[in-house]
Amino acid sequence: MVMDLYEAIGRRRDTRAEFTGGPIDPAVLARILEAANQAPSVGMSQPWVFVTVQAPATLEAFAEHVSQEREVFAASLAGERAETFTKVKIEGIRESGLGIVVGYDPTTAGQQVLGRHAIADAGLYSVCLAIQNLWLAATAEGVGVGWVSFYREEFLSSLVGFPAHIRPVAWLCVGPVADLPEVPDLERFGWRGRTPVAAALHAERYQR
Ligand SMILES: Cc1cc2nc3c(=O)[nH]c(=O)nc-3n(C[C@H](O)[C@H](O)[C@H](O)COP(=O)(O)O)c2cc1C
Repeated sequence: MVMDLYEAIGRRRDTRAEFTGGPIDPAVLARILEAANQAPSVGMSQPWVFVTVQAPATLEAFAEHVSQEREVFAASLAGERAETFTKVKIEGIRESGLGIVVGYDPTTAGQQVLGRHAIADAGLYSVCLAIQNLWLAATAEGVGVGWVSFYREEFLSSLVGFPAHIRPVAWLCVGPVADLPEVPDLERFGWRGRTPVAAALHAERYQR
């Protein structure tokens, strides 16, 4: 065992500044993609697609787009929030050297997907579970992952050539890291900290 499961869960970090820029071992990449593919999925539909992106021009184009979206969000902030946000790094697109674009393809298992007839989003949930598997496996391998969502879906679809029925779900910055910080970046920069599980836990019925 590379790392105890609870240790991997605790050590997993959203990585932005710690990428070494070194190449990822292809065998490690294959293992973490295999872990993603072992995620549970509604009706065993495995509705995920992964596009690996290493071409510098594509990384550059995406980083430029994300930087514009950062400005869009920054413009919605005022006072202390605006000031704190200036310190927050939101991506490591160029530094990681590898982007994995994860898409949701609702057509992988035909029309009758067992368990999706009442909840269309169950397909999307499955893709997120694949991402979490990938993220934990990467952590156990000493590889950093940073989820970037500061983008317009049409832009990313066009960048990687998704057809209209595939929805982009994430751009993951993936690569070897110098270390994984103990404290999440958003907490470190004073944006927001993690709340205890008690804040989300209810017995029998939801209590306001
Ligand atoms: C759906 C999703 C989208 C996210 N988008 C971004 C993003 O665009 N930029 C970023 O820096 N972090 C992003 N994150 C990372 C979160 O900020 C991070 O998970 C959270 O602050 C907790 O920190 P930790 O993952 O290091 O524990 C995203 C995470 C998720 C799950």
